[in-house]
Amino acid sequence: MCGIIGYAGSEQAAPILLEGLGKLEYRGYDSAGVAVCSRRERRLRVHKAKGWLHVLSDMLDGGAAVEGCVGVGHTRWATHGAPSDINSHPHLSRSGKIAVVHNGIIENYGELKAFLTDRGVPFASETDTEVVAQLVEYFYEDGRVDLLEAVSRCLRRIEGAYALGILCADRPEELIAARKDSPLILGYGDGCSFLASDVTALLRHTRRVAYMDDGDVAVLTKEGIRCYDYLMQPVVRETVYVDWAVDAAEKGGYEHFMFKEIMEQPEALRRAVFPRLKDGRVRLEDLSLSGSYLRGLRKLYIVACGSSYHVGMVGKYNLERMLRLPVEVALASEFRYMDPIVDENTLVVVISQSGETLDTMAALREARRLGAKILSIVNVMGSSIARESDQVLYTWAGPEIAVATTKAYSTQLAVLDLLGLHLAEALGTMEEAERDAMAAELLALPEKLERVLAERDAIQYCASEYFNRGSVFYIGRNVDYALALEGSLKLKEISYIHSEAYASGELKHGAISLIEEGSLVVALATCGRLFDKAMSNIAEVRSRGGRVLALATEDRREEMAKTADNVVAIPNTHPLLLPSLGVAPLQLFAYYVALMRGCDIDKPRNLAKSVTVE
Ligand code: F6R
Repeated sequence: MCGIIGYAGSEQAAPILLEGLGKLEYRGYDSAGVAVCSRRERRLRVHKAKGWLHVLSDMLDGGAAVEGCVGVGHTRWATHGAPSDINSHPHLSRSGKIAVVHNGIIENYGELKAFLTDRGVPFASETDTEVVAQLVEYFYEDGRVDLLEAVSRCLRRIEGAYALGILCADRPEELIAARKDSPLILGYGDGCSFLASDVTALLRHTRRVAYMDDGDVAVLTKEGIRCYDYLMQPVVRETVYVDWAVDAAEKGGYEHFMFKEIMEQPEALRRAVFPRLKDGRVRLEDLSLSGSYLRGLRKLYIVACGSSYHVGMVGKYNLERMLRLPVEVALASEFRYMDPIVDENTLVVVISQSGETLDTMAALREARRLGAKILSIVNVMGSSIARESDQVLYTWAGPEIAVATTKAYSTQLAVLDLLGLHLAEALGTMEEAERDAMAAELLALPEKLERVLAERDAIQYCASEYFNRGSVFYIGRNVDYALALEGSLKLKEISYIHSEAYASGELKHGAISLIEEGSLVVALATCGRLFDKAMSNIAEVRSRGGRVLALATEDRREEMAKTADNVVAIPNTHPLLLPSLGVAPLQLFAYYVALMRGCDIDKPRNLAKSVTVE
């Protein structure tokens, strides 16, 4: 969703802001803008445009056309008011003295707008954000308070979520930042300071960052950053060193981030798994759950959204088998409204790549309120979900830029399996030999996944055969069903083909009526013990004229080829780890189909990478 970048230093700000916005494009946006403070003129220059960033960049000659060393930039994902030049950020106060960029939603903006309108303040846009610029100016113009106090008064009046960057023409050397329930990161450079909603925008400039806490306000200048807590008391936020490689957030010769990230999966798995498996034993040194707590556990609840939820679906099958404990999986957006049965004997496992998904965050808080311990599986270090959890297992996948998740899914799954092994050892629910066998296969996953990815031409061929279908079904049983959910989501989100996932056995309870001559069904049949059942379901589809693209294990390839139209095979592995290999052909299939349909793969329409609204 929206992205923020801010700079206070001695260099021209606009080129730095535009370059930073380029790094935030992946979050999803519909317009972009910058505001720069000119010390010479003591005025703010705002430039904004609907559409892709290059429209703005061309308008400003890459930033060379704008003078000033302090500024903010923004990419907007519309919520209040359609995408348009006027609704784009930054927003100016009526005198043009205050400029604001904002991520999040000001929930009481209607009431505040009425308050200001009654006092003669005119509004230019339809956005919730504009009230912030107008309200800061309203308090500031009063003349009795300084800028920081005016900002603080404004923050006390607004309700909702915000990450804000604020400039004032009277203070041309300062940039003010504020955050509540929306991420904002401070970057410490050499003779300059940065602000960003996402660390990837800062990697080229600095690796020393601090995460703002909820309620924090910061003042950035070229000399450094002063930070205040929600009571406006000075605080020092711990700085951390970000070790992500600069090129990890760049395409590095690949046509799309999504393809690059698919191909990076073996390496990402090595990073997530190898340090946590020593001498065949799982060592989750980042975890501390006491023996007595674990013995008292009655239930696991996995809470997440989208693909992370699909990881949870695999987790339900796997963890119930490994732990013999009930495992419930809930969509985070539903969890908080369904009166869930959660108490201090429930471990709530929250899964989120970004660590910022608002629904997931709200579910986490609800679970905590109900007394549960929270263990999160997160990719982005220092993210809000990581910071509010009792325990965090990082996935160490590196930055994921494509909107459609791939390597984050794979590493989340591997970490969940490691967690299962860890808990199974503590609870004594799996034989040692069985644990060892699974651990050995976890170590073998990266190499096996490389073999799957090497076969991508065959998947590209299948895509060329089916890319013009109007609707696709994915079917499977057990973990293959959980995997079908992910395969179907990948296809629909990037290729815009309608697709649905069904538990194979459910097809005949309704959806089979949609199968007709030429309908494509992607049949996942990797579970060895359910192979015969899968074959029966495939036969049902074929006898109604449907075409079947099947996924099977290598040892069943030939048998499957007798029934399905096309077969993609994955290496055999431990039954619980099959989705970790099976997901790659599904990602590649979606990728190639979208490519052949000419879709914008890394930035699918209407989608955002980090979903920070409810
Ligand atoms: C799909 C996808 C989304 C995310 C979902 C949750 O490819 O990426 O469905 O999985 O928005 O995001 P996180 O994991 O960041 O909480």
